[in-house]
Amino acid sequence: MELGSGKVAVVTGAGSGIGLALANGFASAGCSVVLADVQDDALAAAADEVGAHGVETLALKVDVSKREEVEGLAATTVDRFGGVHVLCNNAGVVGAGDPWLGPIEGWEWVMGVNFWGVVHGIRAFLPHLVMSGGGHIVNTASMAGLYPGLAGPYDASKHAVVAVSENLYNSMQAAQMPVGVSCLCPGWVKTGIVDSDRNWPAELGELPPRDIAQEIQIGHVRRAIDEGMQPSAVASLVLDAVRDDRYWVIPHGDWLEIALERWHRVAERQNPEPPEEFPGMPPRSEMIAQMMEAMAQAMGDGAG
Ligand SMILES: NC(=O)c1ccc[n+]([C@@H]2O[C@H](COP(=O)([O-])OP(=O)(O)OC[C@H]3O[C@@H](n4cnc5c(N)ncnc54)[C@H](O)[C@@H]3O)[C@@H](O)[C@H]2O)c1
Repeated sequence: MELGSGKVAVVTGAGSGIGLALANGFASAGCSVVLADVQDDALAAAADEVGAHGVETLALKVDVSKREEVEGLAATTVDRFGGVHVLCNNAGVVGAGDPWLGPIEGWEWVMGVNFWGVVHGIRAFLPHLVMSGGGHIVNTASMAGLYPGLAGPYDASKHAVVAVSENLYNSMQAAQMPVGVSCLCPGWVKTGIVDSDRNWPAELGELPPRDIAQEIQIGHVRRAIDEGMQPSAVASLVLDAVRDDRYWVIPHGDWLEIALERWHRVAERQNPEPPEEFPGMPPRSEMIAQMMEAMAQAMGDGAG
């Protein structure tokens, strides 16, 4: 679809990272932009930045895991602009705590934002996109939606987003509905995602602590993200996909190779085997050695 003046784009998680870059991208294309985020200060700063493009903006505090709040976002958008043309379900968090031994709230938070946020967004906006004469939905999944190699809850949530997106695309095609769908699956992007727990909701209780293995992993992930792709480069691929009505947006070819390798093993019914070399990470054997050493040290400290 064409982007420009008269078009309205809504971006969730617009306060930072990829969402902010998407909001800037739609604004520089001339669209009016609705920014939604759960973090007040980031949202206010983002609205100023995006408004500097000279387009109309609206900033709304929304927790995408809450159905009523996402429905409110859709209603307020349509009240203010008379319609809506692009929805980016982009808000997302990485998990907190050990998925198997830690509190279940770690799962509830990740699935609430990453999975339910996308479902609420689609259900709340789809009728409005159709009534506005057609539109496009972009769901931010991850390469973790095509390759389960990061963390259980995050991988599960992103696999679900890939499945939901493909299902939606096929449904729209079958019903000949005027709504395009894109599924964004990035590898490492330079954003604030590693510090997601800044938005851990108080209603879920205490933030679960990281275990030793997670502490080691997070250090490497932080570095990989710091050296990752610029969010503006990702946003530009997304805008092209919306314009050209393309489904897959996969910015990182090296990650895709790992996902394909895995599918070859699936086709041969071989047991899973994580690759020794993972994009941006030290060799797997080195990571395992670091974890074993840290665990041995912790046990030694405990015994002493
Ligand atoms: N950065 C990466 O390497 C990477 C890779 C693959 C996928 N992604 C995905 O990209 C998306 C954007 O993340 P990012 O990397 O830009 O991180 P980010 O932390 O910079 O931005 C995420 C934004 O979402 C907001 N948010 C968090 N919880 C929310 C909620 N409940 N409701 C509304 N907003 C909420 C945050 O306040 C923040 O502004 C996420 O879905 C993430 O999973 C990121």
